[in-house]
Amino acid sequence: MTRELITNIGQLVTNAAPPPATCAERLGLLTGAAVLIEDGRITWAGRAADAPAPDPADTVTDVGGACVLPGFVDSHSHIVFGGDRAPEFEARMSGQAYSAGGIRSTVAATRATTDAELRHRLRGFVSEMAAQGTTTVEVKSGYGLSVADEERLVRLAAEVTPEVTFLGAHVVPAEFAGRADEYVDLVSGDMLDACAPYAKWIDVFCETGAFTVEQGRRVLEAGASRGLGARVHASQLAPGDGVRLAVDLDAASVDHCTFLTDADIAALAGSRTVATLLPGVEFSTRQPYPDARRMIDAGVTVALASDCNPGSSFTSSLPFCIAVAVRDMGMTPAEAVWSATAGGAAALRRSDVGRIVPGARADLVELRADSYVHLAYRPGVPLVHRVWKDGVVVANTP
Ligand code: NIG
Ligand code: FE
Repeated sequence: MTRELITNIGQLVTNAAPPPATCAERLGLLTGAAVLIEDGRITWAGRAADAPAPDPADTVTDVGGACVLPGFVDSHSHIVFGGDRAPEFEARMSGQAYSAGGIRSTVAATRATTDAELRHRLRGFVSEMAAQGTTTVEVKSGYGLSVADEERLVRLAAEVTPEVTFLGAHVVPAEFAGRADEYVDLVSGDMLDACAPYAKWIDVFCETGAFTVEQGRRVLEAGASRGLGARVHASQLAPGDGVRLAVDLDAASVDHCTFLTDADIAALAGSRTVATLLPGVEFSTRQPYPDARRMIDAGVTVALASDCNPGSSFTSSLPFCIAVAVRDMGMTPAEAVWSATAGGAAALRRSDVGRIVPGARADLVELRADSYVHLAYRPGVPLVHRVWKDGVVVANTP
Protein backbone atom coordinates (compact mmCIF):
# COMPACT_ATOMS: atom_id res chain seq x y z
CA MET A 1 0.00 0.00 0.00
CA THR A 2 1.25 3.54 -0.75
CA ARG A 3 0.42 6.28 1.75
CA GLU A 4 1.09 9.99 1.46
CA LEU A 5 0.23 12.64 4.02
CA ILE A 6 -0.01 16.12 2.56
CA THR A 7 0.29 18.52 5.44
CA ASN A 8 0.74 22.16 6.46
CA ILE A 9 -2.04 23.14 4.04
CA GLY A 10 -2.83 26.80 4.73
CA GLN A 11 -6.26 26.61 3.14
CA LEU A 12 -7.98 23.41 2.00
CA VAL A 13 -10.96 23.60 -0.36
CA THR A 14 -12.90 20.38 0.26
CA ASN A 15 -16.25 21.13 -1.45
CA ALA A 16 -17.59 18.92 1.31
CA ALA A 17 -20.75 20.80 2.27
CA PRO A 18 -23.76 19.59 0.29
CA PRO A 19 -26.38 21.82 -1.35
CA PRO A 20 -28.45 23.81 -0.45
CA ALA A 21 -25.39 25.55 1.01
CA THR A 22 -24.42 28.62 -0.98
CA CYS A 23 -21.42 28.16 -3.25
CA ALA A 24 -19.19 29.97 -0.77
CA GLU A 25 -20.28 27.63 2.04
CA ARG A 26 -20.00 24.65 -0.24
CA LEU A 27 -16.24 25.18 -0.58
CA GLY A 28 -16.00 23.61 2.88
CA LEU A 29 -12.82 25.51 3.72
CA LEU A 30 -10.39 24.22 6.36
CA THR A 31 -7.30 26.03 7.60
CA GLY A 32 -4.17 24.36 8.96
CA ALA A 33 -5.24 21.16 7.23
CA ALA A 34 -3.87 17.83 6.03
CA VAL A 35 -5.00 15.11 3.62
CA LEU A 36 -4.16 11.42 3.73
CA ILE A 37 -3.95 9.49 0.47
CA GLU A 38 -3.91 5.71 0.40
CA ASP A 39 -3.56 3.85 -2.90
CA GLY A 40 -4.84 6.74 -4.95
CA ARG A 41 -7.87 7.56 -2.81
CA ILE A 42 -8.42 10.12 -0.09
CA THR A 43 -8.94 8.32 3.20
CA TRP A 44 -8.86 11.27 5.58
CA ALA A 45 -9.00 15.10 5.44
CA GLY A 46 -9.10 17.47 8.41
CA ARG A 47 -7.06 19.64 10.78
CA ALA A 48 -3.37 18.83 10.53
CA ALA A 49 -3.20 18.55 14.32
CA ASP A 50 -5.68 15.64 14.18
CA ALA A 51 -4.00 13.79 11.29
CA PRO A 52 -3.29 10.07 11.71
CA ALA A 53 0.36 9.56 12.70
CA PRO A 54 2.39 8.63 9.61
CA ASP A 55 4.29 5.32 9.42
CA PRO A 56 8.02 5.54 8.66
CA ALA A 57 7.32 4.23 5.15
CA ASP A 58 4.79 6.95 4.34
CA THR A 59 5.61 9.96 2.22
CA VAL A 60 5.02 13.21 4.10
CA THR A 61 4.65 16.29 1.91
CA ASP A 62 4.76 19.68 3.59
CA VAL A 63 3.17 22.28 1.30
CA GLY A 64 4.33 25.20 3.45
CA GLY A 65 0.99 26.88 4.03
CA ALA A 66 -0.21 26.73 0.41
CA CYS A 67 -3.82 26.46 -0.71
CA VAL A 68 -4.85 22.96 -1.87
CA LEU A 69 -8.05 22.36 -3.81
CA PRO A 70 -9.65 19.54 -5.81
CA GLY A 71 -8.26 19.03 -9.32
CA PHE A 72 -10.30 20.89 -11.90
CA VAL A 73 -12.99 18.92 -13.70
CA ASP A 74 -13.13 20.20 -17.28
CA SER A 75 -16.48 18.81 -18.39
CA HIS A 76 -16.40 20.13 -21.98
CA SER A 77 -13.56 19.93 -24.51
CA HIS A 78 -12.97 19.09 -28.16
CA ILE A 79 -9.26 18.24 -28.14
CA VAL A 80 -8.97 15.57 -30.85
CA PHE A 81 -8.51 17.50 -34.06
CA GLY A 82 -6.03 18.35 -36.82
CA GLY A 83 -4.72 21.81 -37.74
CA ASP A 84 -5.80 25.05 -36.11
CA ARG A 85 -7.71 28.19 -37.12
CA ALA A 86 -5.45 31.06 -36.14
CA PRO A 87 -6.31 33.01 -39.34
CA GLU A 88 -10.04 32.72 -38.50
CA PHE A 89 -9.37 34.04 -34.99
CA GLU A 90 -7.33 36.90 -36.40
CA ALA A 91 -10.12 37.81 -38.85
CA ARG A 92 -12.58 37.76 -35.97
CA MET A 93 -10.45 40.16 -34.02
CA SER A 94 -10.73 42.50 -37.01
CA GLY A 95 -14.52 42.38 -36.82
CA GLN A 96 -15.68 39.17 -38.50
CA ALA A 97 -18.44 37.20 -36.69
CA TYR A 98 -18.06 33.62 -35.44
CA SER A 99 -20.22 31.06 -37.25
CA ALA A 100 -20.75 27.32 -36.81
CA GLY A 101 -19.52 26.81 -40.41
CA GLY A 102 -15.85 27.11 -39.38
CA ILE A 103 -16.14 23.62 -37.88
CA ARG A 104 -16.00 22.18 -41.42
CA SER A 105 -12.45 23.42 -41.99
CA THR A 106 -11.28 21.54 -38.88
CA VAL A 107 -13.17 18.47 -40.16
CA ALA A 108 -11.11 18.59 -43.37
CA ALA A 109 -7.85 19.02 -41.41
CA THR A 110 -8.74 16.22 -38.97
CA ARG A 111 -9.62 13.74 -41.71
CA ALA A 112 -6.18 14.42 -43.24
CA THR A 113 -4.33 13.76 -39.95
CA THR A 114 -3.04 10.29 -39.04
CA ASP A 115 -4.04 8.46 -35.85
CA ALA A 116 -0.47 8.77 -34.57
CA GLU A 117 -0.43 12.53 -35.01
CA LEU A 118 -3.92 12.98 -33.51
CA ARG A 119 -2.88 10.87 -30.52
CA HIS A 120 0.32 12.87 -30.05
CA ARG A 121 -1.57 16.18 -30.10
CA LEU A 122 -4.37 14.89 -27.85
CA ARG A 123 -1.86 13.72 -25.24
CA GLY A 124 -0.13 17.09 -25.50
CA PHE A 125 -3.37 18.90 -24.67
CA VAL A 126 -4.06 16.55 -21.76
CA SER A 127 -0.60 17.31 -20.28
CA GLU A 128 -1.07 21.03 -20.92
CA MET A 129 -4.34 20.77 -18.97
CA ALA A 130 -2.74 18.77 -16.14
CA ALA A 131 -0.06 21.44 -15.76
CA GLN A 132 -2.89 23.92 -15.21
CA GLY A 133 -4.64 21.76 -12.63
CA THR A 134 -7.15 19.76 -14.68
CA THR A 135 -7.32 16.16 -13.48
CA THR A 136 -10.57 15.07 -15.17
CA VAL A 137 -11.41 16.01 -18.75
CA GLU A 138 -14.33 15.21 -20.96
CA VAL A 139 -13.39 14.86 -24.64
CA LYS A 140 -15.82 15.10 -27.55
CA SER A 141 -15.52 13.79 -31.09
CA GLY A 142 -17.16 15.92 -33.77
CA TYR A 143 -14.38 16.75 -36.23
CA GLY A 144 -14.63 13.45 -38.13
CA LEU A 145 -18.28 13.38 -39.22
CA SER A 146 -17.97 10.11 -41.18
CA VAL A 147 -18.44 6.67 -39.64
CA ALA A 148 -14.74 5.83 -39.85
CA ASP A 149 -13.48 9.25 -38.71
CA GLU A 150 -15.86 9.60 -35.77
CA GLU A 151 -14.96 6.05 -34.72
CA ARG A 152 -11.27 6.90 -34.64
CA LEU A 153 -11.82 10.11 -32.67
CA VAL A 154 -13.83 8.41 -29.91
CA ARG A 155 -11.36 5.51 -29.90
CA LEU A 156 -8.42 7.89 -29.42
CA ALA A 157 -10.31 9.92 -26.80
CA ALA A 158 -11.03 6.74 -24.84
CA GLU A 159 -7.27 6.22 -24.52
CA VAL A 160 -7.00 9.33 -22.32
CA THR A 161 -10.32 9.59 -20.44
CA PRO A 162 -13.43 7.64 -19.49
CA GLU A 163 -15.47 10.80 -20.20
CA VAL A 164 -15.86 10.38 -23.95
CA THR A 165 -18.68 12.08 -25.83
CA PHE A 166 -19.86 11.13 -29.32
CA LEU A 167 -20.64 14.38 -31.16
CA GLY A 168 -21.42 13.17 -34.69
CA ALA A 169 -24.16 15.84 -34.66
CA HIS A 170 -21.68 18.73 -34.50
CA VAL A 171 -22.49 20.18 -37.93
CA VAL A 172 -23.74 18.74 -41.24
CA PRO A 173 -20.60 17.81 -43.22
CA ALA A 174 -20.05 19.29 -46.69
CA GLU A 175 -20.87 16.01 -48.48
CA PHE A 176 -24.37 16.04 -46.91
CA ALA A 177 -25.10 19.71 -47.76
CA GLY A 178 -28.88 20.13 -48.17
CA ARG A 179 -29.48 16.60 -46.80
CA ALA A 180 -29.37 17.22 -43.04
CA ASP A 181 -32.02 14.63 -42.22
CA GLU A 182 -30.13 11.92 -44.10
CA TYR A 183 -27.04 12.86 -42.10
CA VAL A 184 -29.04 12.62 -38.86
CA ASP A 185 -30.09 9.09 -39.93
CA LEU A 186 -26.43 8.19 -40.34
CA VAL A 187 -25.47 9.69 -36.97
CA SER A 188 -28.28 7.84 -35.19
CA GLY A 189 -27.61 4.61 -37.08
CA ASP A 190 -24.27 3.31 -38.39
CA MET A 191 -22.16 6.08 -36.84
CA LEU A 192 -23.67 5.54 -33.40
CA ASP A 193 -23.12 1.77 -33.76
CA ALA A 194 -19.43 2.37 -34.48
CA CYS A 195 -18.93 4.94 -31.71
CA ALA A 196 -21.12 3.75 -28.82
CA PRO A 197 -18.61 1.14 -27.59
CA TYR A 198 -16.07 3.89 -26.84
CA ALA A 199 -18.41 6.58 -25.52
CA LYS A 200 -20.27 7.35 -22.32
CA TRP A 201 -22.12 10.42 -23.60
CA ILE A 202 -23.81 11.73 -26.73
CA ASP A 203 -24.07 15.42 -27.59
CA VAL A 204 -25.71 17.56 -30.26
CA PHE A 205 -25.11 21.15 -31.35
CA CYS A 206 -28.64 22.69 -31.41
CA GLU A 207 -28.20 26.03 -33.12
CA THR A 208 -28.91 27.83 -36.39
CA GLY A 209 -26.34 26.52 -38.87
CA ALA A 210 -26.11 23.19 -37.02
CA PHE A 211 -29.12 21.05 -35.94
CA THR A 212 -32.76 21.70 -35.03
CA VAL A 213 -34.18 20.49 -31.72
CA GLU A 214 -36.19 17.84 -33.58
CA GLN A 215 -33.00 16.49 -35.14
CA GLY A 216 -31.25 16.79 -31.78
CA ARG A 217 -33.98 14.80 -30.07
CA ARG A 218 -33.67 11.97 -32.60
CA VAL A 219 -29.92 11.77 -32.07
CA LEU A 220 -30.09 11.91 -28.26
CA GLU A 221 -32.89 9.35 -28.07
CA ALA A 222 -30.94 6.97 -30.32
CA GLY A 223 -27.95 7.45 -28.01
CA ALA A 224 -30.06 6.79 -24.91
CA SER A 225 -31.20 3.49 -26.44
CA ARG A 226 -27.49 2.54 -26.55
CA GLY A 227 -26.92 3.60 -22.94
CA LEU A 228 -25.31 6.99 -23.69
CA GLY A 229 -26.17 9.92 -21.42
CA ALA A 230 -27.27 13.17 -23.06
CA ARG A 231 -25.40 16.48 -23.26
CA VAL A 232 -26.46 19.45 -25.42
CA HIS A 233 -24.73 22.51 -26.94
CA ALA A 234 -27.43 25.20 -26.88
CA SER A 235 -28.14 28.93 -26.96
CA GLN A 236 -24.56 29.81 -27.88
CA LEU A 237 -25.33 32.23 -30.70
CA ALA A 238 -29.02 33.06 -30.08
CA PRO A 239 -31.94 31.97 -27.89
CA GLY A 240 -33.44 28.64 -28.94
CA ASP A 241 -35.20 25.49 -27.75
CA GLY A 242 -32.07 23.52 -26.89
CA VAL A 243 -32.29 24.10 -23.13
CA ARG A 244 -35.85 22.78 -23.11
CA LEU A 245 -34.74 19.71 -25.04
CA ALA A 246 -31.91 19.10 -22.57
CA VAL A 247 -34.19 19.39 -19.54
CA ASP A 248 -36.86 17.23 -21.19
CA LEU A 249 -34.35 14.44 -21.76
CA ASP A 250 -32.73 14.84 -18.33
CA ALA A 251 -29.40 15.69 -20.01
CA ALA A 252 -26.50 15.81 -17.56
CA SER A 253 -25.54 19.21 -18.89
CA VAL A 254 -26.52 21.93 -21.33
CA ASP A 255 -23.52 23.89 -22.46
CA HIS A 256 -22.91 27.51 -23.53
CA CYS A 257 -26.24 29.02 -22.23
CA THR A 258 -25.18 32.45 -23.44
CA PHE A 259 -28.69 33.55 -24.46
CA LEU A 260 -31.20 32.18 -21.93
CA THR A 261 -34.83 33.19 -21.55
CA ASP A 262 -36.55 33.37 -18.15
CA ALA A 263 -38.36 30.15 -19.09
CA ASP A 264 -35.02 28.43 -19.80
CA ILE A 265 -33.73 29.46 -16.39
CA ALA A 266 -36.89 28.30 -14.61
CA ALA A 267 -36.72 24.95 -16.42
CA LEU A 268 -33.05 24.49 -15.49
CA ALA A 269 -33.63 25.46 -11.87
CA GLY A 270 -36.27 22.76 -11.54
CA SER A 271 -34.10 20.06 -13.13
CA ARG A 272 -30.98 17.97 -12.58
CA THR A 273 -29.41 19.43 -15.72
CA VAL A 274 -26.28 21.51 -15.07
CA ALA A 275 -25.69 24.74 -17.03
CA THR A 276 -22.08 24.58 -18.21
CA LEU A 277 -20.68 28.00 -19.00
CA LEU A 278 -17.66 28.40 -21.26
CA PRO A 279 -16.04 31.82 -20.74
CA GLY A 280 -13.28 31.09 -23.26
CA VAL A 281 -15.89 31.16 -26.04
CA GLU A 282 -17.17 34.65 -25.39
CA PHE A 283 -13.62 35.83 -24.81
CA SER A 284 -12.48 34.41 -28.17
CA THR A 285 -15.54 35.36 -30.21
CA ARG A 286 -16.20 38.80 -28.68
CA GLN A 287 -19.74 37.77 -27.82
CA PRO A 288 -21.57 38.92 -24.68
CA TYR A 289 -20.86 36.69 -21.67
CA PRO A 290 -23.56 34.45 -20.16
CA ASP A 291 -25.13 35.87 -17.00
CA ALA A 292 -23.99 33.38 -14.38
CA ARG A 293 -25.31 35.58 -11.57
CA ARG A 294 -28.86 35.35 -12.89
CA MET A 295 -28.61 31.56 -13.14
CA ILE A 296 -27.09 31.01 -9.70
CA ASP A 297 -29.57 33.36 -8.05
CA ALA A 298 -32.39 31.35 -9.64
CA GLY A 299 -31.00 28.09 -8.21
CA VAL A 300 -29.38 26.67 -11.35
CA THR A 301 -26.29 24.48 -10.84
CA VAL A 302 -23.48 26.05 -12.87
CA ALA A 303 -20.26 24.41 -14.11
CA LEU A 304 -17.32 26.14 -15.76
CA ALA A 305 -15.39 24.40 -18.54
CA SER A 306 -12.82 25.33 -21.19
CA ASP A 307 -14.57 24.12 -24.38
CA CYS A 308 -10.99 23.82 -25.64
CA ASN A 309 -11.30 23.66 -29.45
CA PRO A 310 -9.58 25.34 -32.41
CA GLY A 311 -12.56 27.50 -33.40
CA SER A 312 -14.42 29.20 -30.59
CA SER A 313 -12.12 28.79 -27.55
CA PHE A 314 -8.53 27.61 -27.88
CA THR A 315 -7.70 27.73 -24.19
CA SER A 316 -7.03 24.67 -22.04
CA SER A 317 -6.84 26.70 -18.82
CA LEU A 318 -9.51 26.54 -16.13
CA PRO A 319 -7.67 29.16 -14.03
CA PHE A 320 -8.16 31.50 -17.01
CA CYS A 321 -11.87 30.57 -17.22
CA ILE A 322 -12.28 31.20 -13.47
CA ALA A 323 -10.70 34.64 -13.76
CA VAL A 324 -12.93 35.63 -16.69
CA ALA A 325 -16.07 34.23 -15.02
CA VAL A 326 -15.37 36.32 -11.93
CA ARG A 327 -14.50 39.46 -13.86
CA ASP A 328 -17.21 39.34 -16.51
CA MET A 329 -19.96 36.87 -15.58
CA GLY A 330 -20.93 38.04 -12.11
CA MET A 331 -19.50 35.06 -10.24
CA THR A 332 -17.72 35.33 -6.91
CA PRO A 333 -14.28 33.65 -6.69
CA ALA A 334 -15.83 30.95 -4.46
CA GLU A 335 -18.61 30.25 -6.94
CA ALA A 336 -16.20 30.08 -9.86
CA VAL A 337 -13.83 27.68 -8.06
CA TRP A 338 -16.75 25.48 -6.99
CA SER A 339 -18.12 25.47 -10.55
CA ALA A 340 -14.75 24.43 -12.05
CA THR A 341 -14.41 21.53 -9.59
CA ALA A 342 -17.60 20.18 -7.98
CA GLY A 343 -19.74 21.84 -10.68
CA GLY A 344 -17.82 20.04 -13.43
CA ALA A 345 -18.20 16.79 -11.51
CA ALA A 346 -21.99 17.37 -11.31
CA ALA A 347 -22.04 18.01 -15.07
CA LEU A 348 -20.45 14.56 -15.52
CA ARG A 349 -22.63 13.03 -12.79
CA ARG A 350 -19.51 12.01 -10.89
CA SER A 351 -19.21 11.94 -7.10
CA ASP A 352 -15.66 10.54 -6.95
CA VAL A 353 -14.01 13.72 -8.29
CA GLY A 354 -14.32 17.44 -7.54
CA ARG A 355 -14.23 16.99 -3.74
CA ILE A 356 -11.56 16.28 -1.15
CA VAL A 357 -13.45 13.86 1.06
CA PRO A 358 -12.80 10.29 2.20
CA GLY A 359 -13.51 7.89 -0.65
CA ALA A 360 -12.90 10.40 -3.43
CA ARG A 361 -10.05 10.05 -5.91
CA ALA A 362 -6.87 11.76 -4.74
CA ASP A 363 -6.98 14.46 -7.44
CA LEU A 364 -5.51 17.61 -5.91
CA VAL A 365 -3.96 20.91 -6.88
CA GLU A 366 -1.44 22.82 -4.78
CA LEU A 367 -1.34 26.51 -5.60
CA ARG A 368 1.59 28.83 -5.39
CA ALA A 369 -0.68 30.99 -3.20
CA ASP A 370 -2.33 30.72 0.20
CA SER A 371 -5.92 31.24 -0.99
CA TYR A 372 -8.18 30.08 -3.82
CA VAL A 373 -9.08 33.74 -4.38
CA HIS A 374 -5.73 34.20 -6.11
CA LEU A 375 -7.01 32.15 -9.07
CA ALA A 376 -9.17 35.16 -9.99
CA TYR A 377 -7.12 37.86 -8.31
CA ARG A 378 -3.93 37.04 -10.25
CA PRO A 379 -5.21 36.37 -13.79
CA GLY A 380 -2.77 34.88 -16.26
CA VAL A 381 -0.22 33.98 -13.56
CA PRO A 382 0.81 30.29 -13.48
CA LEU A 383 -0.27 29.58 -9.89
CA VAL A 384 -0.65 25.81 -10.22
CA HIS A 385 2.36 24.23 -8.55
CA ARG A 386 1.88 20.50 -7.94
CA VAL A 387 -0.95 18.31 -9.26
CA TRP A 388 -1.88 14.82 -8.03
CA LYS A 389 -4.13 12.51 -10.05
CA ASP A 390 -5.20 9.28 -8.36
CA GLY A 391 -2.51 10.02 -5.78
CA VAL A 392 0.31 10.33 -8.32
CA VAL A 393 2.05 13.65 -9.05
CA VAL A 394 1.30 14.34 -12.73
CA ALA A 395 2.58 17.91 -12.86
CA ASN A 396 5.14 19.77 -10.79
CA THR A 397 6.06 23.12 -12.21
CA PRO A 398 8.99 24.96 -10.65
O1 NIG B 1 -18.53 24.27 -28.41
N1 NIG B 1 -20.45 25.12 -30.63
C1 NIG B 1 -20.06 24.15 -31.22
N2 NIG B 1 -18.87 23.58 -31.13
C2 NIG B 1 -17.72 24.17 -30.60
C3 NIG B 1 -17.01 25.04 -31.59
C4 NIG B 1 -16.35 24.27 -32.60
C5 NIG B 1 -15.57 25.03 -33.62
O2 NIG B 1 -15.80 26.21 -33.92
O3 NIG B 1 -14.70 24.33 -34.17
C6 NIG B 1 -18.09 24.93 -29.35
O4 NIG B 1 -17.95 26.15 -29.27
FE1 FE C 1 -18.27 22.71 -27.43
